[in-house]
Amino acid sequence: MDSVIEDIRVRKILDSRGNPTLEVDVITWNGFGRAAAPSGASTGAREVVAFPLGGVDSIIEEVEDVIAAELIGMDAEDLLEIDLVLKEIDGTENLSSLGGNTTVAVSMAVAKAAASSYNLPLYRFLGGNMPYQIPYPLGNMINGGAHAGKNAPDIQEFLILPVGAEDITEAVFANTAVHRRIRELIQKKDQLFTGGKGDEGGWAPNLTNQEALEIQSQACEEISQEEGVLIKPCLDMAASEFWDSDQEKYVYKKEGIARDTGEQVDYVNEIIDTYKMFFVEDPIREGDFQGFADLTQRSGKKCLICGDDLFVTNAHILAEGIEVGAANSIIIKPNQIGTLSDTYQTVNLARTHQYVPVVSHRSGETTDETIAHLAVAWSCPIIKTGAVGGERIAKLNELIRLEEEMSNPQMADLSQK
Ligand code: PGA
Ligand code: ZN
Repeated sequence: MDSVIEDIRVRKILDSRGNPTLEVDVITWNGFGRAAAPSGASTGAREVVAFPLGGVDSIIEEVEDVIAAELIGMDAEDLLEIDLVLKEIDGTENLSSLGGNTTVAVSMAVAKAAASSYNLPLYRFLGGNMPYQIPYPLGNMINGGAHAGKNAPDIQEFLILPVGAEDITEAVFANTAVHRRIRELIQKKDQLFTGGKGDEGGWAPNLTNQEALEIQSQACEEISQEEGVLIKPCLDMAASEFWDSDQEKYVYKKEGIARDTGEQVDYVNEIIDTYKMFFVEDPIREGDFQGFADLTQRSGKKCLICGDDLFVTNAHILAEGIEVGAANSIIIKPNQIGTLSDTYQTVNLARTHQYVPVVSHRSGETTDETIAHLAVAWSCPIIKTGAVGGERIAKLNELIRLEEEMSNPQMADLSQK
């Protein structure tokens, strides 16, 4: 009774790139939930469709009329059933008639309304009575590729993970200390650097991949020393973005180098060894399970090899990857698959097969903080949500609040890799 849905409201709001996205309110007898959908720039080809052709404007009436008509009177607690109804209304395999961003915003708002109906924070409603752990924040330091201007590195994201942090506050401030130091190091290298940033708040410098790797590594070492918190470098290569299917090569424009798949595997393996990378995401283009598996065989014991565009948070595609040993980690983005229950199914499959699930933001974000709760509720040891910028700190600051609320909070266990 407390969580019976009484009304659904929907509106067009801004995302961090200034594009329109959807925000949904769900009102129950005794609660309220609000959620907004993020959006990607380097999206995987097998993700569900974000919005139908007409965009956000074309879907607002449909949510208010068709979706609301079906969901009003249902119990928000029955998330699985509600997600099924959403998929039924859509009626397509890839959610192209409603859009996965529409369904995910409704699905998350319903979950938050259910939690609120019982006066619980979302993570407790979803996670039950577990000993909760705080995920380590994977912070974005330097942006390239599709997230920055044309003179930035080809590699999309130079990231860091403060693996030695003892609590979330120490972790997020270690990340911003490295972020600040990286700016100084870029400035030394390039007097003309304007301080410009990319879509996820990392610096967008006129540097080669090699130069960026050096600066990233130096900043990690210096701040680890100064702050006494061990910080490791990580990457998201988003390799599909610079794969040239005609040449069948990875084309690094900044360096003027093209590498075939074997050379790419060698190159990434060398980077992992040289810089002691903790985590490398999408080092191989999406669809190439064998290339991924070759790299994971070589490097999977010393580094997390993570699939984002490769798996698109889809349990069926993850199962294909598990079959061939494609990776040992997976990015979890709810809007890649369209509902919270499908997202959870993928997290579960990952964990069953020792794939480390990394809950993640998108490059286009809002101040919605839901993913902070998902990472805690589902015991994901890492959350990827930037280091600075309002839409990124919305999640990080929420983690600080969650830690404060927990009795005896512990950082996650990163030893499972
Ligand atoms: P996207 O990129 O949100 O632009 O798809 C983020 C990522 O590749 O991890
Ligand atoms: Zn990625």
